[in-house]
Amino acid sequence: MTLRKEIEFNTIVNDILKNQEFIALKYEIHHGISRLDHSLNVAKCTYQTCKKLKIKNYQEITRAALLHDFFKSDEVKENIFVNHPLKALENAENNFLLDAKQQNIIASHMFPVTKVMPSNIGSWTVTVVDKIVATYECLKFKMPIKMGALFIFLLNIFFVQR
Ligand SMILES: [Fe+2]
Ligand SMILES: [Fe+2]
Repeated sequence: MTLRKEIEFNTIVNDILKNQEFIALKYEIHHGISRLDHSLNVAKCTYQTCKKLKIKNYQEITRAALLHDFFKSDEVKENIFVNHPLKALENAENNFLLDAKQQNIIASHMFPVTKVMPSNIGSWTVTVVDKIVATYECLKFKMPIKMGALFIFLLNIFFVQR
């Protein structure tokens, strides 16, 4: 991202990144990194995609993208994969003012797993960007952790015990 875009991005999300409840996402594990870092990756990628596609309400979309996974794992009792968007929406609404499009962006970001359909260009952008970013993160961070654990496990079997 260029410095100019970096500055604009920070201006758009500044208040969210100062919110104590949101900052706590840095202690939640998500795709092998923190949920805060994942949310930032999705928000930055969404911001850049919106700019490229010249989408007018890119500021609102970027903010909703940052808030799309605003939940702690222990707040979602069952089927976290399907149910976390509505918890994220609840937390986002308790802390920030959201318009109807932003609400839909958060509620529908797991489409087609969730029953809420993306209703606007921002929702479609975030649901696609989230999937691409999640795939990248899992391949870059989660897989290497598993491969590393497997390597240490094999090392223990063949060398350490002898
Ligand atoms: Fe999510
Ligand atoms: Fe996500």
